[in-house]
Amino acid sequence: MTTNAHLVGWGRYIPERILTNDELTQMVDTSDEWIRARTGIAERRIASDGETTASMSIQAARRALEVARLEPSQLDLIIVATATPDYLFPATACLVQDALGATHAGAFDLAAGCTGFVYGLNVAANLISAGAHETVLIVGAETLSRIVDWHDRGTCILFSDGAGAVILQANGADGGVLSTLVGSDGSGGELLCLPGGGSRHPASHRTVAEGLHYLRMRGREVFRFAVRTMPDATRQVLKRAGLSVADLNLLIPHQANQRITDASAKSLGLPPEAIISNVEWYGNNSAASIPIALCEAVEEGRIQQDDLLVLVGFGAGLTWAATALRWSKPLPLVEPSPRKKIWTFGQKLRYRYAALRSLVRRFLRWLLSLGVKE
Ligand code: UT7
Repeated sequence: MTTNAHLVGWGRYIPERILTNDELTQMVDTSDEWIRARTGIAERRIASDGETTASMSIQAARRALEVARLEPSQLDLIIVATATPDYLFPATACLVQDALGATHAGAFDLAAGCTGFVYGLNVAANLISAGAHETVLIVGAETLSRIVDWHDRGTCILFSDGAGAVILQANGADGGVLSTLVGSDGSGGELLCLPGGGSRHPASHRTVAEGLHYLRMRGREVFRFAVRTMPDATRQVLKRAGLSVADLNLLIPHQANQRITDASAKSLGLPPEAIISNVEWYGNNSAASIPIALCEAVEEGRIQQDDLLVLVGFGAGLTWAATALRWSKPLPLVEPSPRKKIWTFGQKLRYRYAALRSLVRRFLRWLLSLGVKE
């Protein structure tokens, strides 16, 4: 019997702070009209001081676990796709593992720019199909506001923060992930790049003085790459599943620019109702954009059982990826509310226990180190 990877949980976390186009006009030489006309963006979300990629990932992951009715200990792998990890190491995925109390999970970060979430989804789906893992949490999360140059009008109008998460689980039933596609072209690496802080330009007074710790982008070139790549990747991933655009119910593209989304829809011949767009309200939150858009599509009732979906992204690398998915989770999720309350309470206790467990493990590590003679 073949094992399929079914999407059984989803969740998102959006920071509360809204940054409007009008506010941006106080910071750089731009206008609400220009931003709306060239990008479709009206406002974006910015993480508060205490929020990080890990903290937002944890919130999104908890919601995904709740939808899936799974306990953290049932996860056997956690992938966090991000270009803005809390640290270069340890992996943000390990911080998420610890906070969730996912005691049986491996954890790693995945760097594929805005394409990271779809890369992660594809890696997870193929590991599940191969029998290596059963239940995998995939998070796309970003705190881009921390690497944006707020004096650069070419980038600061676009980017934002947030997190989205899904859970894939092995199941013999038909549906779930049908086909996957990943691609890269490193010759375009400098088109979208964070030059400082790595082994080429380690952080120093010089890198800070030269602004190498800020994201740099050649927008027009990335735009051209995107409008070519997204429709191609969509067609190819459908072909791999033995399907075509005519079979597609919903396209969930990376939310970068409304003009890119419109050009992709036009190229594929899709009507507006067959393509998800929320860039107007969130801007571009990179690896978080597709899982957040997926969550919204579910919440708005735009996905029906057995619908055929394609998730397609592009980004730094350059990279691109697509996933064709047959929606198999029964919708809507109606639960008798007393049961839900008890479950939610139990889950809260589990997260408290995870925090306590983390402290105890630190203490035990310290205690054991006392007995080690150097
Ligand atoms: O997630 C993947 C990452 N990135 C992307 O997907 C970004 C893809 N690219 C884009 O979305 C678009 O290229 C941008 C929105 C970044 C720029 O839009 P554009 O239509 O490609 O503008 P442009 O870069 O060709 O610039 C046109 C003009 C320039 O002025 P001149 O040289 O024609 O006088 C820019 O200086 O617009 C000017 N400009 C602005 N004007 C007002 C650039 N940014 C702004 C701004 N406000 N914020």
